[in-house]
Amino acid sequence: MAALRLGDEAPNFIAQTTEGQIDFHNWLGDSWGILFSHPADYTPVCTTELGTVAKYTDEFNKRNVKVAALSVDGLESHHGWIKDINETQNTTVNFPIIADEDRKVSELYDMIHPNADSQLTVRSVFVIGPDKKIKLTITYPASTGRNFDELVRVIDSLQLTAYHKVATPANWNPGDDCVIVPSVTNEEIPNLFPKGHKEVKSYLRMTPQPNLN
Ligand code: BEZ
Repeated sequence: MAALRLGDEAPNFIAQTTEGQIDFHNWLGDSWGILFSHPADYTPVCTTELGTVAKYTDEFNKRNVKVAALSVDGLESHHGWIKDINETQNTTVNFPIIADEDRKVSELYDMIHPNADSQLTVRSVFVIGPDKKIKLTITYPASTGRNFDELVRVIDSLQLTAYHKVATPANWNPGDDCVIVPSVTNEEIPNLFPKGHKEVKSYLRMTPQPNLN
């Protein structure tokens, strides 16, 4: 399977998870989605990651994002490990962990990088839009835990573009000014951006973040 690219449809699959069998597209429904793989259950970095994701539940819910984790370990292993995650990370894992023992999903999403490890998934992240298209891919090595603040930041940026016709500049953080997307004409600006705008160059037009009061 060739690597998935931005704009590709996220492949659908049926999988066993810690929350029952899911049909991925049906499970996503109209939500945004994050599908992320980790190398193995009962490993230290993964334990902190899945605990952290559980703690971000409110942030994901606010943004209409559903999250699913995946490794090639089985359901029994996942269920046992969840107890450890909840205990050590002081949280409650409340999202499905896919048991991809036959590697069907890992292969569909190219999550096994044989020159890194021929047996285990790397730390892949796929952000999927409500249109089921892939909006972001990131791959981290096994030894680096992911930055979930960054994932939330990217989702904020993606949703600003999808719903408000702005992009976000380098190192943007919520509350900072945004970039009016090039497809918006100058004539459309007063209606779309009543808070005003600044034309730094004809191709660089800034406006306050539109969805803040
Ligand atoms: C971990 O999750 O801690 C881990 C997994 C594989 C290699 C290194 C670290």
